[in-house]
Amino acid sequence: MKKGLLFLGLLFSGSLAMANQCAFDLLGTDTRDYKDSEGNFVKQIIIPSSCTYFTINLRNVTKMHKTAMGHNVVIAKAKDVKAIALDGAIAGVGKDYLKPGDTRIVAASKMVGGGERTSVRFAVSKVKEGGYDFFCSFLGHERKMRGKLIVK
Ligand code: CO
Repeated sequence: MKKGLLFLGLLFSGSLAMANQCAFDLLGTDTRDYKDSEGNFVKQIIIPSSCTYFTINLRNVTKMHKTAMGHNVVIAKAKDVKAIALDGAIAGVGKDYLKPGDTRIVAASKMVGGGERTSVRFAVSKVKEGGYDFFCSFLGHERKMRGKLIVK
């Protein structure tokens, strides 16, 4: 009886998780990768065009402080990522490796350290033309922690 209830509970929570297609859960690892909850590398995120807003949730699964292995999620045009990361490197760790007021950034979460969570929410209309990426602005991380946003 108890097992049956647990099974129903799992089914129910599973369907609830699937019902929110306007959000995606990312993990930030100590190998400087974005992974999904099953441990797969995440190199693209599909955004259903039916969503008005989309949310990317990030959990830093390392045990390190954000100044050593910080992770965030920044949304920008793919062609701007290198320049944003360079300006972020100049801005430094105290600014979470982002230039304050950088108008090339569509949206950005805060930088979080080990065990912490954050999220970034943005209007799908801002990225639907295509060519947008998500990446981590921590020094040097964008080389691995980067993927495409695909609206379809
Ligand atoms: Co990072």
